[in-house]
Amino acid sequence: MASFPSGATIVTTSDSDGRWWGFTASSFCSVSMDPPLVLTCLANTAQCFPAFAEAARWNIHVLQHRHADLAMRFATRGAAKFDGAGFQPDADGLPFLKDVSISLRCTTYSKVDGGDHLVLIGRVEEVGQAEEMPFVYFRRKFHALPLGDDQVAGKAGQAQSRASLPVVIELDLGWM
Ligand SMILES: Cc1cc2nc3c(=O)[nH]c(=O)nc-3n(C[C@H](O)[C@H](O)[C@H](O)COP(=O)(O)O)c2cc1C
Repeated sequence: MASFPSGATIVTTSDSDGRWWGFTASSFCSVSMDPPLVLTCLANTAQCFPAFAEAARWNIHVLQHRHADLAMRFATRGAAKFDGAGFQPDADGLPFLKDVSISLRCTTYSKVDGGDHLVLIGRVEEVGQAEEMPFVYFRRKFHALPLGDDQVAGKAGQAQSRASLPVVIELDLGWM
């Protein structure tokens, strides 16, 4: 699976005592458009497993390249994951990080046995999106996406704010 390019996310929740938990996950994908569902998978052995197994809500943060260190911290068992990392409590008291590429606030749709992982299927209640590009996790490394010409400099030589990628082919298939 390390040869299948993916993004990287940090998934966070809070337990019944209000303690924050989170882990880095590359297992993130869409499940359904109506209702809007996404999934992520958590190892049964993770320290944060009991919190997510009980959680009614969780937040998914799709990371930008500047979050590479944070991705490693949230992949480290026993690390002080939230110390100085910039998370704020959301309306439900769950850890929420602004200024990520995409943020999704989810409620439980279902939790499914996935062998040695638990498949967390969340209903997306709120989406936040920033312009900056997510990075790509591929062959155990984080890669920055190449920027399109309009990101490097506009026609008048001014830097453009909107991120874009070189287009290979543009689809019009009604798929996400
Ligand atoms: C890029 C990357 C992607 C990861 N993806 C997943 C994943 O999808 N599911 C998972 O259970 N662990 C994944 N991990 C490992 C967990 O982040 C790591 O084991 C984490 O420490 C588990 O939480 P814990 O600290 O509470 O035990 C990934 C690690 C990295 C570096």
